[in-house]
Amino acid sequence: MSELKSKIDLEKLPKHVAVIMDGNGRWAKAHGKPRIFGHQNGVKAVREITEAAAEIGIEYLTLYAFSTENWNRPKLEVNALMHLLVQTVRNELKTLNENGIKLQAIGDISKLPSKTQDVLLEGIKKTAQNSRMTLTLALNYSSRWEILNAVKKITEESQADTIEPSKIDESYFESHLSTKNLPDPELMIRTSGEQRISNFLLWQLAYAELYFTEIFWPEFRKQHLYEALVDFQSRERRFGKISEQL
Ligand code: IPE
Ligand code: IPE
Ligand code: MG
Repeated sequence: MSELKSKIDLEKLPKHVAVIMDGNGRWAKAHGKPRIFGHQNGVKAVREITEAAAEIGIEYLTLYAFSTENWNRPKLEVNALMHLLVQTVRNELKTLNENGIKLQAIGDISKLPSKTQDVLLEGIKKTAQNSRMTLTLALNYSSRWEILNAVKKITEESQADTIEPSKIDESYFESHLSTKNLPDPELMIRTSGEQRISNFLLWQLAYAELYFTEIFWPEFRKQHLYEALVDFQSRERRFGKISEQL
């Protein structure tokens, strides 16, 4: 494990890593347990990856925890996820502060149960002064929702004559996304073998390197993050140019 870690060039780390934490349900099923058991064990992976990312020097870590589409799951599972979120934020607050991690959320938080909102907002407030790493939880998040929201806001501004349509450029548009204070992720990791984006950061991932692993989220550990980082560093990011120009 430490051998793998030593292969990582600390000068060339991605600043922002985004993760689609997937496979909790299948992991639980493989162990003959209810899906919720998988979510509970997923928290261990969240803790470990957050710690590993901060330790190695990643500045922004964004975790997809609950999509807008996830409301369509059985009510029992949705309730358990909301409860788990409350518990986790409460339990981890001290560790977040000890490690200088600032908690943030993206998504339509106003639609979460009020208890979940309260605990989350408290966690955000109590870690706001931290600056080592920003941990962003995507909660009731969907990228199309976010993009549509930006379009609505910009349309209003344009109608109020605060912006001329010809002045709407990428940076203006980005300033209307919920990720406005985050750089674009350079690396996106998805666990569980699924190779899709599932409505996550569609605009922001435009040039991200995508990394897919068969590991189910509850089993994702530091070494798996290191593997992803080593793989990321082996890639040539050309941004439309050719090799010789880099
Ligand atoms: C990811 O695991 C957690 C959430 C989406 C909340 P899943 O619950 O999607 O697990 P699988 O994909 O069914 O195995
Ligand atoms: C994506 O996982 C959402 C989260 C990880 C929170 P899903 O398991 O909901 O994705 P799909 O529906 O299989 O694409
Ligand atoms: Mg899934």
